[in-house]
Amino acid sequence: MFPLHVYQNRRDRLKAMMPENSLAIISAARETIRNRDAEYPFRQSSDFWYLTGFTEPDAVLIFGPGHPDRLFVRPKNPDQEVWTGRRLGPDHVKTSLGIDEGHSIDNLNSEFITVLASITSIEYPFYCNDSAVIIDRLVKAKETKSRQQNRLSHYADLSRFLHHARLFKSKEEIDVMREAGRISALGHVAAMQACRPGMTEDQLASIVEHTFRMEGSPAAAYQTIVGGGDNACILHYIDGADKLNSGDLVLVDAGCEVKGYAGDITRTFPVNGSFTGAQAELYDLVLCAQAEAIDAMVVGNSIKSFHEAALRRLTEGLIDLKIVEGPLELAIEEKRYATYFMHGTGHFLGLDVHDVGTYEIDSEPIEFSEGMVVTCEPGLYLNKRSDAPTRYRGIGIRIEDDVLITQQGPEILSKDVPKERSEIEALMRG
Ligand code: GLY
Ligand code: MN
Ligand code: MN
Repeated sequence: MFPLHVYQNRRDRLKAMMPENSLAIISAARETIRNRDAEYPFRQSSDFWYLTGFTEPDAVLIFGPGHPDRLFVRPKNPDQEVWTGRRLGPDHVKTSLGIDEGHSIDNLNSEFITVLASITSIEYPFYCNDSAVIIDRLVKAKETKSRQQNRLSHYADLSRFLHHARLFKSKEEIDVMREAGRISALGHVAAMQACRPGMTEDQLASIVEHTFRMEGSPAAAYQTIVGGGDNACILHYIDGADKLNSGDLVLVDAGCEVKGYAGDITRTFPVNGSFTGAQAELYDLVLCAQAEAIDAMVVGNSIKSFHEAALRRLTEGLIDLKIVEGPLELAIEEKRYATYFMHGTGHFLGLDVHDVGTYEIDSEPIEFSEGMVVTCEPGLYLNKRSDAPTRYRGIGIRIEDDVLITQQGPEILSKDVPKERSEIEALMRG
């Protein structure tokens, strides 16, 4: 957890932007049943975590201009806690979390009815299902239980303030994201060192995730992707049961989570430790496209321009390798590259791996600004059914790094894992 003033400042900044007589309601994530009475591992809602630092389920934060910040949490229950773990309890909210008032979640309805009398709009991040469900329940309960006049007339999307704020990482967040980059990189290094023909994709994934845990990260930030050979051409491949074959490449897309913040790294390397000629040609092309895109990740450049840098270089290379027909400008205009490069070059990174924040403002692509963290991940995917020359079929390559935008230029948070072919081959030789 960050120092308490970090969360207080975040709430205060939002309150300063919210209209008078409005109230924000943000729900914690709920526990989800996996099967019978076993639950999926609990992961806090990113918005709620950002504003409170609190990691228990069944909690609701209510705040707004002119109101005290209120947090509703599960009451203490020693019998229950023997089974399901410790609870903070309402009495410790102020001292442990620095939030003005702690209440039992059991009193949410009655407290809400009192507060609602004085507000005209409710703010919450739209598309956040947990908050929407809670708000619907509260407003309906108020309608049936209270005869007060209803002043509430608007719902507004808090994302316009909240998700915009989350785009710009503070010093504390950057330190944590550097750590997520460092640990994620170690996971990839361990995978390169351990990879042998005959292992399964899932066994290689377990080495990456073991390293995350041993280095102090409690979890992967998303489901680890390990795809050998043609499987690397499935962008979010997660089956993981196939054996890794000598002569194939393997694509590993994995990142750990540190204090909720994600790393997101992809490396592609030869299962037997040596690139073939065709693999090397495509690999160097992707690497070159990534270098040019990273060079474009500077303050003031638009987020569209780094994508254009990557796809221009990739298209040029595909024409040189006779995979795509030129000339270059026409190939770009007709998107001839899109059969082999079908995704964007990067996304915002933060508490969510595909982090919140809008990519366009008033139909203009957003500019890179200091404190943004953005991935840079060009790729080429020439699956076995493609029309590419035979020697290139069954090859999927992505190279992904996490980049902090600074006034001094791009800082690569995931720099500790090699990506030059010669460095990878040397590491794999041991
Ligand atoms: N790991 C998912 C992505 O790179 O977008
Ligand atoms: Mn990514
Ligand atoms: Mn990724």
